[in-house]
Amino acid sequence: REKYKILLRDMNKTAAAYFHYIMRHTEHGKKAYEYFKGRGLSDETINQFGLGYADIYRDDLYRYLKGKGYTDAELKDSGLVLIDEKNGGSDKFWNRAMIPILDINGKVIGFGGRVMGDGKPKYINTSDTVVFDKSRNLFAMNIARRSRRKGFICCEGYMDVISMHQAGFDNAVASLGTAFTFGHANILKRYTNEVYLAYDSDGAGVTATLKVISIMREVGISARVINMRPHKDPDEFIQTLGSEAFEERIKNAESAIMFEVRMLSEQYNLNDPEERTSFHNETAKRLAQIEEVLERNNYIEAVSNLYHIDKSGLTDLVHKYGIAG
Ligand code: CTP
Ligand code: MN
Ligand code: MN
Ligand code: MN
Ligand code: MN
Repeated sequence: REKYKILLRDMNKTAAAYFHYIMRHTEHGKKAYEYFKGRGLSDETINQFGLGYADIYRDDLYRYLKGKGYTDAELKDSGLVLIDEKNGGSDKFWNRAMIPILDINGKVIGFGGRVMGDGKPKYINTSDTVVFDKSRNLFAMNIARRSRRKGFICCEGYMDVISMHQAGFDNAVASLGTAFTFGHANILKRYTNEVYLAYDSDGAGVTATLKVISIMREVGISARVINMRPHKDPDEFIQTLGSEAFEERIKNAESAIMFEVRMLSEQYNLNDPEERTSFHNETAKRLAQIEEVLERNNYIEAVSNLYHIDKSGLTDLVHKYGIAG
């Protein structure tokens, strides 16, 4: 079993080297190289992340790996190749800019392939295999776990992580989409109890952030939220405003609770007395869950100041909802 995992990781590593070679040494590959360059990546970053290109041919990787001695069954289990009874093997990734996914020990276990332009789907990823479990692997954790920076920055995307690392934020990892799990949280928790969230600032990203906050809270991680506005994600932010501006946003990251209350506030028209009352009630329910007395009082103070709520009124309401602990 363990031997088979090693074989599959070796095969993924061979594929990564192949994709990288094709990108750097073939005419077709130039397109992917230019794509990554066009997204602001340096040669150093391209090499560090082992980026590459999956060519337009339907079975070039399949034939290459067959030539290395792998069997059809092994190739199928790697997720790199599709085996069809009638037509034989064919590559999963065609004409895409390739990003290797490494496990926490730095072994290649899968890939993300991005279309170079506006085609759909934007990304194709290795499906779960014996060595790749998306819900238990954080992209770039192999690097981030050695970072000297404080805590981790957790975000959605491949390019977010790569841009942040290039800008010096080498404590960034990605859940590769918005599906953050307890598995992810427990990995982070082994190293720190402080995580910055940098999910996209669109609706899906905000929904994800609220979900991630509650998971983090359950495992005992204190989360802070980085505001990327007016940009959509860390990659766009850094490519436009640069690393110093991003550092500033980290410094000003909002505590999870203030973020949650702010998201609540945006659901109501605070000029309407009835809606404003609902907002106060929902906020009080949230604040009532804070177990530490001093912490709870500090948040009551901060929230009443920020939203111009009578402090003793809010305190009463919090007590009405029954304080935790
Ligand atoms: N994702 C995916 N498949 C898709 C879309 C997204 O697997 N069809 C995952 C990828 O890991 C992607 C992340 O979700 O990086 C975030 O998605 P999105 O914000 O839509 O893409 P970006 O990462 O911003 O992609 P890019 O900057 O390359 O446009
Ligand atoms: Mn191919
Ligand atoms: Mn997104
Ligand atoms: Mn994004
Ligand atoms: Mn993006």
